[in-house]
Amino acid sequence: MPKILIIYYSRTGNTEKMANAVAEGARMIQGVEVEVKYQTAPEELANFDAIVIGTPTYHHDMSLDMKNLFEETAVKNISLKDKIGAAFGSYGWSGEAPKLVLEILKNKFQMRTIEPPLLIRYEPDQTGLEKCKELGKKIAENLALFRA
Ligand SMILES: Cc1cc2nc3c(=O)[nH]c(=O)nc-3n(C[C@H](O)[C@H](O)[C@H](O)COP(=O)(O)O)c2cc1C
Repeated sequence: MPKILIIYYSRTGNTEKMANAVAEGARMIQGVEVEVKYQTAPEELANFDAIVIGTPTYHHDMSLDMKNLFEETAVKNISLKDKIGAAFGSYGWSGEAPKLVLEILKNKFQMRTIEPPLLIRYEPDQTGLEKCKELGKKIAENLALFRA
């Protein structure tokens, strides 16, 4: 069964709410397995068909955890080529982080990215959570099609 990993960082809980809603949306599609994690070893990434990264923007940047994960994955030559990649995150005013993530997934890891990234200002409201669910559904549908 195709597997989706949602990995996120969140300091004040906003991106965490997004992550859980993305997972809820993905789980609405039959025939895919969904895992949500706060941290993961780079070797783990190879076990998934889609990798979805959630990171808020702090200081115009993604979280340090994500940077470290990408660096470790690259240094250890773990291939993510042709896996599906997507990104989301809460932000306050500039929201660069998910865009930076997608750029790395596409250019460094040669993943098939779902654009654009999903950005929500501060705490997601009901509409925001619906958008997160839609993203999760879209990723799962892509995967179900891709692996069929
Ligand atoms: C110290 C600090 C720096 C921040 N820097 C940025 C920034 O550069 N750009 C931006 O869009 N939001 C910035 N924010 C706002 C956060 O992205 C926003 O509060 C977000 O909802 C936090 O998500 P989280 O609850 O998942 O940690 C900053 C917030 C703090 C406290």
